[in-house]
Amino acid sequence: MSKKYHAKLVNSSKMVKDAHAGKYAIGHFNINNLEWTKAILEAAQETSTPVIIATSEGAIKYMGGLKTIVGMVNGLLEELDITVPVALHLDHGQSVEMAKKCIEAGYSSVMFDGSHLPYEENLAKVNDLMKFANDHEVSVEAEIGSIGGEEDGVVGSGELGDPKQAEEMSKTGISMLAAGIGNIHGKYPDWWTGLSFDTLEELQKACNMPMVLHGGSGIPQDQVKKAISLGISKINVNTELQLAFRDATRKYIEEKKDLDDSTKGFDPRKLFNPGFKAIKNTFVELTQMFGCDGKAK
Ligand code: 13P
Repeated sequence: MSKKYHAKLVNSSKMVKDAHAGKYAIGHFNINNLEWTKAILEAAQETSTPVIIATSEGAIKYMGGLKTIVGMVNGLLEELDITVPVALHLDHGQSVEMAKKCIEAGYSSVMFDGSHLPYEENLAKVNDLMKFANDHEVSVEAEIGSIGGEEDGVVGSGELGDPKQAEEMSKTGISMLAAGIGNIHGKYPDWWTGLSFDTLEELQKACNMPMVLHGGSGIPQDQVKKAISLGISKINVNTELQLAFRDATRKYIEEKKDLDDSTKGFDPRKLFNPGFKAIKNTFVELTQMFGCDGKAK
């Protein structure tokens, strides 16, 4: 018997489909803790912006497990009276079993990243996941090629996606497809030559569906806009929010505000506040660049 586990959360399908048709991209933001989640949800609500919040498997372990995350997110949606569309997404799920566990725990969207597997195995596993995901109204993201660099222990060589594979993957019923197009997780190194738009164009022609740009931190605005015009409908951001949080927290500490006992500058609610605000501001800047701000109006 099928069951929808996510009460107020929505899946990502409509969000990315609308974005694909309207030539903008939905922001996917990785979360690490309560402050991250609350900052993103508040900023999304204040700007009427649909949003995908995501956890890697590493973040799931860090935050204490799936029940903790689902409970926290659902609690915030209710208590902060969040009315914009919000999806809770598994980022770079390394196995179909993990994706199914997330669905059962209440995630509304999952990525199965089989890019480390031989392609036929990747495709077979995506097909295996689809029925379960459809039964629970959960959206699925798959990946071909690979994203360069390392994220939470997931390492990719940066192999470009293959159009034939993109076409096959599009027929599995997935809602969005990630592909290597010269993108890299983390800070872009000096030798980086930019996104491969020829590859993106070929892949989009082959699959004609919403595509996902991983490694969304630090890509120059003109390249982001061009990628969106060529079919990118979801952009994944992790490092950029971490850097914003780091810079704001560093400033607070360098100004020795944490050492001011008379104002209780050591209180974590004060210590984390500049970083919290920086996450909100960065969310607003990025979603304006992606063109998804205000799209929940
Ligand atoms: P960045 O850390 O480079 O923003 O990449 C995030 C990402 O792609 C998550 O899947």
